[in-house]
Amino acid sequence: MANVSAYGRSSSNRACTAQNRPSVQTPQVHKRISSQGDKQTTKHTPHKRLANMSVLAKLQSIDWSFATFQSATGLYHIDAISNLHWYPGRCVPSLASTLISALARPGQLLLDPFVGSGTIAAAAVEAGLATIGMDINPIACLISRVKISLMPPDRLRPLANALTTSLVTAQRHIEAGCTASPALLPPSIPNGEENELWYHPGTLFELGTILSYINNIEHETFRTIAFVCFSSILRACSSQSNHWGYICDNMRPQSLVYKSALNIYLKRLQQYIVVLGDHFTAVTLRRSAADLRMIRRTSRIITASAATINQHVRDAAIDLIVTSPPYSGVNDYVDSQRLTLLWLPDGPEVRRISRCNETGARWKRFRKTATGEFITDMSDILHYLVRSLKPHGYLCLIYGDSPARTPAIPALISALRINNCAHIGSFTRGIPSKRALIPKVMNETIHVFRKL
Ligand SMILES: C[S@@+](CC[C@H](N)C(=O)[O-])C[C@H]1O[C@@H](n2cnc3c(N)ncnc32)[C@H](O)[C@@H]1O
Repeated sequence: MANVSAYGRSSSNRACTAQNRPSVQTPQVHKRISSQGDKQTTKHTPHKRLANMSVLAKLQSIDWSFATFQSATGLYHIDAISNLHWYPGRCVPSLASTLISALARPGQLLLDPFVGSGTIAAAAVEAGLATIGMDINPIACLISRVKISLMPPDRLRPLANALTTSLVTAQRHIEAGCTASPALLPPSIPNGEENELWYHPGTLFELGTILSYINNIEHETFRTIAFVCFSSILRACSSQSNHWGYICDNMRPQSLVYKSALNIYLKRLQQYIVVLGDHFTAVTLRRSAADLRMIRRTSRIITASAATINQHVRDAAIDLIVTSPPYSGVNDYVDSQRLTLLWLPDGPEVRRISRCNETGARWKRFRKTATGEFITDMSDILHYLVRSLKPHGYLCLIYGDSPARTPAIPALISALRINNCAHIGSFTRGIPSKRALIPKVMNETIHVFRKL
């Protein structure tokens, strides 16, 4: 697998046209999902049936609450990696690690076409797999790149120390009232008028100063780490102290309250150094140098719609797909990162385009055709996903239908079946109330398929 490039499809690749794509029946009658999958439709040799049975047995033996996962595996740091950024709708790290270790082995290639903040990508790297992630949301892609960056602590620490020293010096000047000192980089505040609505002027000045120093960093990977760290504190620095959904819905604060952005950032940067260092150590202790080289060479995070997957990934290149697509009508992922996008000069324009292409976005929920559009978009994406998968490769879809929306999962299962996949099984777990989404998605189900 190590020398297989999954990129750069040539233009000769067959486009998926309405003629060659199997049509998806949107079932009028929703079949009950069998926890056993559809053994009856899988025409396997006895050997392959046995292989399926053992995977099914493995999956059935999993405690999906993951109560003892960390003590049993020693993977104590994976929650800390996940918590580097508060990105909404994150997958449970133990769930990602468990699926990957049950269904793949080191040296293989995993695809997550809805990579979000990179929980599944980070778990893949941890398990010794290279990973391709895609997301329509550019901020999600930056976060994911950080989580799979594998920067050695002895390179990361000096760069972080230099940034810290500059920011502490800047803080002294600001506290002494010398905001125009030549020793201080002038603040960089793109989209100033809009940004002024969210932060106290003092906080905004500090944020602009931090961004100037970040933009000054030459080392590209560290610049991305420093920017993602910046992105992760914007909510805490803003004067909108309600749930992130208020920011997502553009509910600006009524009054502006000073928060020390520099203190918050400096503290957070130290956490980033520790957590990324632990992640690097955990991965390098477990993996061979050859695996690490392969992971670095092959792994990519692509900012694009999953609907364009055939332009980025060759047919039959992927060993395992694990993904948690947007749940229909539940979240606005692009808008959730509104505050970060405001710190990019072209952020508002990027936001406008990305949110239109976001599959199943919450803001589209009142359209009469919302569920139908979601099913059509997802069915097309699933068709390409199956094409990208090697024969006998597994595809895991983690999905929670909201009781407040028309269910979509029966149609998605039907789409995978007609795309030549056997349904191995479905496993439902409760979502802890602090993670429960609005409108209440109380359960999520892991649907496991195998390409025939
Ligand atoms: C449930 S979240 C994934 C969360 C991720 N597993 C994590 O742990 O952070 C779904 C993601 O799908 C992305 N998305 C929505 N429509 C998309 C599309 N058409 N193509 C690619 N990504 C899309 C959203 O931006 C969001 O990040």
